[in-house]
Amino acid sequence: MKTVHQTSGKIKTKVLALSIVSFVITFAACNSNENKAASGEKKEANKDSVAIFTPPDTSTIPHDKFGEMVRYGRDLVVNTAKYIGPNGIVSKNLGNKMNCTNCHLDAGTRPFGFNFFSSHARYPQYRGRENQVLTMGQRINNCIERPHNGTPLPLDSKEIVAMCCYIRWVGTNVPVGQHVKGDESLEIEYLDRAANPTKGAAIFAENCASCHGASGQGQWNADSSTYVYPPLWGPHSYQVGSSPHRVIKLARFIKANMPNLKATWKKPVLTDEQCIDVAAFVNDDRIHERPTKKNKAIPDYPEIKFKAIDYGIGPFIDSFSALQHKFGPYKPIIEYRKAHNLPIVF
Ligand code: HEC
Ligand code: HEC
Repeated sequence: MKTVHQTSGKIKTKVLALSIVSFVITFAACNSNENKAASGEKKEANKDSVAIFTPPDTSTIPHDKFGEMVRYGRDLVVNTAKYIGPNGIVSKNLGNKMNCTNCHLDAGTRPFGFNFFSSHARYPQYRGRENQVLTMGQRINNCIERPHNGTPLPLDSKEIVAMCCYIRWVGTNVPVGQHVKGDESLEIEYLDRAANPTKGAAIFAENCASCHGASGQGQWNADSSTYVYPPLWGPHSYQVGSSPHRVIKLARFIKANMPNLKATWKKPVLTDEQCIDVAAFVNDDRIHERPTKKNKAIPDYPEIKFKAIDYGIGPFIDSFSALQHKFGPYKPIIEYRKAHNLPIVF
């Protein structure tokens, strides 16, 4: 016991030191990542010879003050609506009853499933959408505000600190500033045509509607406190302009993970083309409504050259239309950006 307590004392100072170091390194690494993306260079971590990162087993969460926060943080990620949802027992910060784990699959531990493998190692980090360097707590609040359509938690609240502890624990032993294999989404081959929401509708009816509902509304659990199958659009789903609202980002997630428990990163069920078309259908604002950003005073991507290429709301640094940014074809946009030495951000 004694050693455990001593370690947890040390951990605090280590966390602080690590955060400062990671601030400096990730900030520098950020720019180089953008350049890497621009040149199409693959990251070392994603080479075939490298093993997929394995997060520690929950049985190894330490039995000390830090471990208590890790456990609470994990519980928050899994049962988010119960704690901080519209009828939450701790607060009512979320605007919907989704849980973090609906997107950050297996509580952020599934390879290629929006996991938290290297998140702690890469934060604080520059974010183009806010044009600011954000801490981990601020990044969590982004998801509370955008996919969860809610209001931010105080950064020093027990809940934010607990989720930061959990995310740090998931990334145990990941070197500061580094990626590890499996921490990003599966690569996808872009199409030479625009994504086709009409084709996507048929793919949705066949592969997704059985769980997510014919109107994308999802399915409540027995007491409607959260979902058995989370919604994909409509008033209770993620916001316009949130990360999953982008076609490429969503298509890459679908490829490795949907239909749930059938598709795996090793054996996707849908082809790249089907993933892109169905993501376009889900995210087509001409046919599907979803909540919009609450705080409109601050525009997304105030510095427009850092706007993600599949972000479908102007203004843009190039002359491609909003529809082309949203649905593609993406290759001409990427080529244009390369030719003009502009960042290629996803
Ligand atoms: C509707 C889906 C959705 C929900 C719900 C959601 N997120 Fe996210 N979150 C995303 C997406 C998409 C990203 C961007 C991932 C990427 O770029 O690969 C993201 C990014 C993040 C990141 C940054 C990860 C990194 O390594 O860069 C953190 C941390 C995070 N979310 C935490 C949370 C927490 C905590 C909750 C619950 C309070 C939550 N998210 C709920 C979709 C969601
Ligand atoms: C067998 C049921 C099932 C099928 C079929 C299915 N999903 Fe899901 N989906 C789920 C479940 C369950 C989750 C939440 C996972 C969790 O909480 O562990 C989910 C999560 C998601 C999410 C992230 C959360 C959200 O609501 O935004 C998206 C996006 C998604 N599915 C899209 C699709 C698409 C597109 C298809 C069809 C290609 C599909 N799913 C097919 C069960 C299913």
